[in-house]
Amino acid sequence: MPYAFDLKNVTKHFGSVNALNGVSLHSEENKVFALLGPNGAGKTTIVRILSTLLEPSSGTALVHGLDVQKQPKEVRKIIGLAGQYAAVDEFQTGFENILMVGLLYGLKRNEARKRSEQLIERLDLADAANRPVRTYSGGMRRRLDLGASLVGQPKILFLDEPTTGLDPASRQGMWQIVHELISQGTSILLTTQYLEEADELADSIAVVNEGKVIAKGTSNQLKSRLGNDMIEFKLNNLDDLSKAKEAVSSIAKSSADFNKDTLVMRVPVNNGSKDLMKLVERLNQSKLDVEELSLHRPSLDDVFLALTGNFTHTDTPNKANHKGVG
Ligand SMILES: Nc1ncnc2c1ncn2[C@@H]1O[C@H](COP(=O)(O)OP(=O)(O)OP(=O)(O)O)[C@@H](O)[C@H]1O
Ligand SMILES: [Mg+2]
Repeated sequence: MPYAFDLKNVTKHFGSVNALNGVSLHSEENKVFALLGPNGAGKTTIVRILSTLLEPSSGTALVHGLDVQKQPKEVRKIIGLAGQYAAVDEFQTGFENILMVGLLYGLKRNEARKRSEQLIERLDLADAANRPVRTYSGGMRRRLDLGASLVGQPKILFLDEPTTGLDPASRQGMWQIVHELISQGTSILLTTQYLEEADELADSIAVVNEGKVIAKGTSNQLKSRLGNDMIEFKLNNLDDLSKAKEAVSSIAKSSADFNKDTLVMRVPVNNGSKDLMKLVERLNQSKLDVEELSLHRPSLDDVFLALTGNFTHTDTPNKANHKGVG
């Protein structure tokens, strides 16, 4: 089985700008791979190389075993691309836009019509299907662009920041579609600046910064580079403290932290879910009632900050929650 995509030591220079400085990455078929990075990291450049819109300065890029430089036509037949900025024709209707792309892919007219109708329905654009696209909102354009990228039934789909600028409901809708595509056997490469999105969707993540891959792995692997999972609970009253300390003593990885004002105890642990079960058992044994028992794993925000020393915008609110304790 060839990889869905395979980049080997790819560089890309635009004059004096080194957009990519030796990127090597690959992903298995039928998986979601996320490129995560701030503005200017090189995400779009990678997508453009894999979708044959740009040639690398050096290195090789394969899509399903096909070389993007030597076999660009073959590559184009098996890929779909929804670019960072929706590529839609303002003056045609939504339906006509998708139909046109279907015909460009070489589908018979009937087949193209049928698929366009299905996609319009699935992307929740039925009510607007016969309106010119210039009357569409930003989110509707993104969905339409996604529809156009799907009409050729690609084996691998490139989604460049598919949810940037979408409202929460539309973002959920886009995630739902990604899950559906994966269940149908598609491979996906997406780029995102939303750490939460990579966490939700991706089987593997590469963190890109200044044209280099600075970390790769699953979301859990990246998080575990930050170390501690943290179990947190609240005592009902201060008298329970010694019992609580005893209950956590053999589970805590290092000393637990207790706040006398809030009665909240925070316990750094090695293996969040297993240790949580153990702790519940202990608390039961010592007949100790606690409130708000929860497990916190480091967020991808934390990972990103640790790796690059800066944040992109993000919508995970709990980034400062559990640092510097234990
Ligand atoms: N055609 C071009 N000519 C000159 N420089 C370019 C060109 N395309 C990209 N670059 C530069 O290459 C670098 C990487 O750009 P790229 O668009 O890949 O970043 P990105 O990670 O997609 O960023 P964003 O999150 O803003 O979309 C940037 O420094 C950018 O200015
Ligand atoms: Mg980009």
